[in-house]
Order: sequence, then C-alpha cells, then structure tokens
Amino acid sequence: MKRPLILTEAYAQMNDSPSLRDLIHATETAKLSGFQVYSIPPDYTRCENAENALAYVPEQAEETPGLWLGFIPSAQRYTEIYEAALDKNIRLLNTPDEHLNGQVFDRAYPYIADLTPKSLVIQSVEECEMIAEELMFPVFVKGAIQSRKSKGWSFCVAESLQELRELATQLFALENRSRGKVIVRELAQLRHTRRASDFPLGREYRVFVYQGHIVGWGYYWEGDDPLRDLSKEEEQHVLALAQRAAEALPSSYISVDVGQTEALDWIVIETGDGQFSGYSEIPLLPFWNRLRELL
Ligand SMILES: Nc1ncnc2c1ncn2[C@@H]1O[C@H](COP(=O)(O)OP(=O)(O)O)[C@@H](O)[C@H]1O
Ligand SMILES: [Mg+2]
Repeated sequence: MKRPLILTEAYAQMNDSPSLRDLIHATETAKLSGFQVYSIPPDYTRCENAENALAYVPEQAEETPGLWLGFIPSAQRYTEIYEAALDKNIRLLNTPDEHLNGQVFDRAYPYIADLTPKSLVIQSVEECEMIAEELMFPVFVKGAIQSRKSKGWSFCVAESLQELRELATQLFALENRSRGKVIVRELAQLRHTRRASDFPLGREYRVFVYQGHIVGWGYYWEGDDPLRDLSKEEEQHVLALAQRAAEALPSSYISVDVGQTEALDWIVIETGDGQFSGYSEIPLLPFWNRLRELL
C-alpha cells in the first residue's frame, strides 16, 4: 500500500517558538503513524526555488497524497511547492485554489457567511467610513490571514471609527497578516471564564475535516478551562457545524474553529487550510491514524 507523505518545515526552522515545537511534535507523531516524512526548507534562501527545495524528496512510483506541514506560505509559494510536489507524483491535499479558499478569510467568507459573524472587507483606510453604516461598534478587526490576538484585545477590537482607522492602518502595514485586506467583523460575545492578559479565551473548538469526514477535534486553548468539556449533544452541534462549513467551502482539507456565544449559539470563527493550522489540544496519534485511513 502506498504511504502518504509529509513535507515538513519542522527541522529547517531556525528560531525556537511554541508553534515550532508543535510542528515538530505533529511531524514526529505522523511518522509513528506511518507517514513518510521529508524535510523541506522554510524559504528559498538556500535552495533558490521550489524544485530544489524538494530535491531530496524521492519521486513516488504512483501518485501519493501529501501534506505540507509548516508556516502559512504566500499564495505564490504554495503554488510552486504544489507543482514541484506533483512533478514527483505527490499530490498535496489542497490545490492552490482550495488552499486559498480555506486560508484567506475573504475567500472563505462568501461560502460560510450564514455560519459566522457578519464581516466586511476593506482595502484602504478610507473605506473605514462606510463601516459605521453597516456594523455597530465595537467591531472585531483582523487581517485576511491573521489577527493580532497575541498582542491583546485592544489590537483586535475597535470601539470607534478613530480606533478602527488606527488598527486598519497598522494591519495594512503588516502584509503577512493582511495581504492588503482588512476584515471588520461584528463582535461576538463568546462564552468564556478565562483571559490571557485582557483577551477573553472563548469557548472554542478546532475541528479538522477532510472531504467531509471529521479527522479530529479538540479544545482551542491550552491549559485548564472549566468550559472545555462538551456534553454529547454539544459535541454533535460543534461537529455538525464544522461539517456544514466544510461542505459549503470548496476546499478538501480544512480546519474549522467553532465557538459558543453567551446566548449559547454555536458559530464559526474562522477556517484555515488544515496543513497550516495548529493542532491545539487534539490528540495527535489518533488524528494521524484517522487521516491515514481516510487517505
Ligand atoms: N467576530 C468576533 N467576535 C469576537 N471575538 C472574535 C471574533 N473573531 C475572532 N474572535 C476571537 O479572536 C480570536 C482570534 O481571531 P481569529 O479570527 O481566529 O484570528 P487568528 O487567525 O489570529 O486566529 C478567536 O479565537 C476568537 O477568540
Ligand atoms: Mg484563529
């Protein structure tokens, strides 16, 4: 039987960080589950191009499914590595289009609009003006790729038009996070008991879905949390909502973050390409075993 394959950046990243340690842990566990694992460099500084980045990866005798584990790449880099992998008979789980549909908020939003807080996309600070007509302050503000949650609540929430302009200006300057697009969202009241400094840690779960099948899921935040456990009925709600989002979104392998509001409704927070999503509190060996079965 052909063994699915992983291209990982875990062993070529230089700067230690919690997300790098997660990536190493995920890669090592995938190996134990029977995936073939090959290291690729995190950029082209030493290898110049995607073909060279995969030089050490053996060509597969028959087409083999592959995952790329690492840090969110640019759209161009995703396409280049996708094609270099195909040249070796390795097909990454998401095509370049599917990758963007899962990863970039304004690409995903039209498909999941009825499952997630109302959101507007702006491409310039001037467009902040029109927000006040469509949404009530405070609003949640993030880049098309990522928020600045690690900096704190005030970096993600604007109480006024003035604050929105400031956050939007900062986000437009952070090209990796925004790629020229800032997302302004209705602020959800997420159920929570804990905060990380001033950031409320909402009752949120991360669910990985491959072609409509749940691969694994777990609580989004680490550490003890009195809200972590789900009743059987709640679990069904969370997983069904993740599956609805996955069905609506043209992408084969995604993560779906699902949160509960103070009003006890379940909503989608965001989606991501499963290849570049952290594993939160998901038990990894069952996760990789399940994905291998599905592949
Ligand atoms: N519309 C919203 N209203 C309230 N809180 C939100 C909203 N969107 C996101 N959050 C909170 O902020 C966190 C980070 O936002 P998210 O969109 O997931 O960005 P990132 O890509 O940085 O994870 C979420 O996990 C959730 O706790
Ligand atoms: Mg998130």
